[in-house]
Amino acid sequence: MEVYIVTGGAGFIGSHFIRHLMKKNKESLIINIDKLTYAGNLKNLEDIQAERNYVFIHEDISNAEAIKQIFAKFSPAYVVNFAAESHVDRSIADAVPFITTNIAGTQVLLQASLSCNIRKYVQISTDEVYGPLEPGAEPFKEDSSLKPSSPYAASKGAADLLVHSYNKTFGLPMNIIRSSNNYGTHQYSEKLIPLLIRNYRLGKPLPLYGDGTNTREWLHVKDYCRAIDMVLHEGRNGEVYNVGTGDERQNLEIAELLLALLMELSKEKRVLTKARAELIEFVEDRKGHDKRYASNWDKIKKELGWMPRLHFDEGLRETVEWYLERGLLKV
Ligand SMILES: NC(=O)c1ccc[n+]([C@@H]2O[C@H](COP(=O)([O-])OP(=O)(O)OC[C@H]3O[C@@H](n4cnc5c(N)ncnc54)[C@H](O)[C@@H]3O)[C@@H](O)[C@H]2O)c1
Repeated sequence: MEVYIVTGGAGFIGSHFIRHLMKKNKESLIINIDKLTYAGNLKNLEDIQAERNYVFIHEDISNAEAIKQIFAKFSPAYVVNFAAESHVDRSIADAVPFITTNIAGTQVLLQASLSCNIRKYVQISTDEVYGPLEPGAEPFKEDSSLKPSSPYAASKGAADLLVHSYNKTFGLPMNIIRSSNNYGTHQYSEKLIPLLIRNYRLGKPLPLYGDGTNTREWLHVKDYCRAIDMVLHEGRNGEVYNVGTGDERQNLEIAELLLALLMELSKEKRVLTKARAELIEFVEDRKGHDKRYASNWDKIKKELGWMPRLHFDEGLRETVEWYLERGLLKV
């Protein structure tokens, strides 16, 4: 039985990826290692927790001894590392957990992977490692230099370099995937889309940093899971793959699209006659806030034939419907 170790599987993207793997690998064993920080929630995996080929292990990836034992016991063929402190604002308030989990934790997983005959280690990175892109500039390629702005992005960039070094020094088979902003169901409510939905439901204005013109490229989490699966099984050893959509949106546009959808779909039928100025609140900008991220994802398209399938309008509608059905989210 092939064993997959997925870390951070109780979080947003990790839980979607485990569900994706479970659907297509009935004969594989999927181990989810998660520390269950504020961002981890086992309810994200409620529908599969009783499956016979799924095991949850409550552990911290930076605990070297425990991770070594887990790897020795299960001897994984594949390791996919989602576990991370993932919120930029928190890294500005306190970078320490970002260094411990995102950098030291990654090194622990790499070291443990060396002791097993693994087929592939995949590091889930981010397009934020490239730093900001000027308006109108060409999107970053996989070999663009790393110029992270936030302690979060710097910790992810440092982890990428460690993964690269384990490939060069020890021959560890690996890939690094750098994706744009994901959206979809099961996301913790501090991130933009669930945060705006939550505030709307509480009757509060939708907060946007600065003037709301920061631009991000949006990717549906299910499309991302297909990309990770392809890279894990077919990606060329040692390569980095960007994953994006080319669908760039300003935060203000996201807020306006959400308001329109919420007014249409909300069961409360709250009549909103307020002016936009009352519905959207511009708040003091984040320190070092990057204006724009965008990456060139021709490589995964050409080499592996991956393309996003879900259009943003469709994906956003489905996402809003899901959050509305589930009522208020955890703060
Ligand atoms: N969400 C996005 O838009 C996005 C975009 C690009 C890259 N990423 C990357 O994708 C990965 C997953 O992001 P997400 O949005 O699902 O994050 P998330 O914050 O929703 O989930 C992170 C998960 O990791 C777990 N975790 C944290 N520290 C841990 C530790 N020390 N040991 C074990 N588990 C630990 C948490 O409990 C949680 O379940 C991260 O590595 C992130 O950097 C996310």
